[in-house]
Amino acid sequence: MAPVNLTEAELSTLSAKAIEAKAAAYCPYSHFRVGASLLTEDGTYFIGANVENASYPVGICAEKNAIGTAVTAGHKSFRAVAVASDIIPGTSPCGSCRQFMRQFCPPSLPIYMYGTDGKYVMKTMGELLPDSFGPEDLEKNR
Ligand code: THU
Repeated sequence: MAPVNLTEAELSTLSAKAIEAKAAAYCPYSHFRVGASLLTEDGTYFIGANVENASYPVGICAEKNAIGTAVTAGHKSFRAVAVASDIIPGTSPCGSCRQFMRQFCPPSLPIYMYGTDGKYVMKTMGELLPDSFGPEDLEKNR
C-alpha cells in the first residue's frame, strides 16, 4: 500500500528509525522488542522503545515513550507513526497505546506496523480506535 500522506523518502526514514529503535528496548521479561517512531508536522522524527519493569504492569510501551518524548520536546502535531517488532506481521499498538496516541493523532493519521521481514501493514488511527474518546469530547461538556 502506498503512503497516505508521506513521501517514499519520509516513510523510508520513519521505518528505519522504528526498526533501529528496537535495539534500545529494555525487555528482560517478555523478550519482545518494540520500537516506535513519529514524524511531526514540522518534519522532526522521534523514537521510543518499550521499557519493562520488575513490577510487570509498570512497564511502558514503545509508542508511549515516543509520544511522551515528542510532547515533552514541544511537539504535539504528528503526520505518521511507525511501530516495529520481531514478529510477522508486525504487532499493532496495544489498546492502551491506541488511546494514548489518540490524544495527539487525528483519525486520519497513518500508523505503519513493521514486521521483522521489513514489510508493513498500514491502518489509520480511526481504524485502530473507532468511535474513540478524545480531548474534544471533554470540551463539549464545558
Ligand atoms: N509492547 C509495546 O511496546 N507496544 C505495543 O503496542 C505492544 C506491546 C511491549 C510491552 C511489553 O514490554 C512487550 O511489548 C510485551 O507485551
